Amino acid sequence: MKSADLVVTNCNQLLTCRGPIPKRKEALQDIGCIENATIASYEGKIVFIGSEKEYHKEMSLDKNGVQIDGKGKIGLPGFIDSHTHLPFAGSREDEFLLRLKGYTYLQLAAKGLGIQTTVKATRKASQQELLSLCLTRLDSMLLHGTTTAEAKSGYGLNTKDELKQLRAIREADRKHPVDLVPTFLGAHEIPMEYKTRKSEYIALIIQEMLPEVKRFNLAEFFDIFCEEGVYSVEDTRKLVKAAQQSGLKIKIHTDEFSALGGAELAAEVNAVSAEHLIAITQEGIAALSESSTAAILLPGVSFFLMLDKTAPARQLIDHGAVVALATDFNPGSSMTESMFFILQLAVFTLKMGIEEAINAVTANAAYAISRQTSMGSLELGKKMDLLLCDVPNYAYLGYHIGTNPITHVIKNGKIVVKDGQIF
Ligand code: NIG
Ligand code: FE
Repeated sequence: MKSADLVVTNCNQLLTCRGPIPKRKEALQDIGCIENATIASYEGKIVFIGSEKEYHKEMSLDKNGVQIDGKGKIGLPGFIDSHTHLPFAGSREDEFLLRLKGYTYLQLAAKGLGIQTTVKATRKASQQELLSLCLTRLDSMLLHGTTTAEAKSGYGLNTKDELKQLRAIREADRKHPVDLVPTFLGAHEIPMEYKTRKSEYIALIIQEMLPEVKRFNLAEFFDIFCEEGVYSVEDTRKLVKAAQQSGLKIKIHTDEFSALGGAELAAEVNAVSAEHLIAITQEGIAALSESSTAAILLPGVSFFLMLDKTAPARQLIDHGAVVALATDFNPGSSMTESMFFILQLAVFTLKMGIEEAINAVTANAAYAISRQTSMGSLELGKKMDLLLCDVPNYAYLGYHIGTNPITHVIKNGKIVVKDGQIF
């Protein structure tokens, strides 16, 4: 008999999202659904998936083990939010009201608002304040099913404040059950004080920021906003090279508003992901589809900015790109912590199938942060990061909109949300 210290019985459907991962094309439609399932873990790792009868034959629950009656609910892997701007200070509802009056996001940015507003607020905040904001937001993420999130700096735009954001992420990771994956996004914008001296700011990133980030081991990924008026493809190439030499893996914000060729560059430099892609060209789609670079789509942005255009999810999937979904949680272009909402937006606005969307918030999302061997699917040996949803079948995850059916969240084999409350 093998030991378990947590078991969940009686899941009407268990969506394992099992590999091979990443999933492309038709493989995205396979969510590895097991009916009437039992799943068990030991010390945070999955040790059993099968029927209750088999479970009783093979497994024994430790004396202090926890048993949960799934009561016919749906079980699925915890969501992985592969793109967030978690450690920001302040909020931008004033600009939101201006957008409702007809100003566009780019017009506000040109006035020195937008990202710069959040830079000012974030520079003023202490590391402790950022930490406390992160922890509150992580609670909200967890209640909406996120068990792992990538988190970017990018609102400091100087060495001290970028490091402050990254340290807040590190502290939050230590203190909160949600696992965090840190990304250094010093090239999110050009800071006001360097507006006419972009090359000097690029030099600062290369000569001062990257070595500090490396010295304190504060980030796993490097990210950059490759966009008209921000960083060109050439700037991006230069910064990516320096970041790779510092041992960081690459993510690129690109083709959000204009297609500069950033998706092609992401494929060329072997980036782990290219993110946004609303304006991606046919060449960009072809380049990503033939590459190992994940396409992280952020349907919250088109929705929140009320854009007519969305990322061409269907074309990306049909051509064979690895599609993942994320919130882009930030105060300007996607003010939501809810991966559940993103899953539903993907179905309704990107025309993704419900199975495709489920794989894109779990298995492929794990791949998009280089975590596919340890999480993103329910398979033996992987982390026991499990959601229980009070719906009769998985179609309801897309069908019943605007509600949150998650009753339980299990993270690393521990109950962290019970009956819809942080536990
Ligand atoms: O991913 N596009 C660049 N950065 C963010 C927006 C940040 C902000 O508006 O504060 C994004 O959408
Ligand atoms: Fe972003």
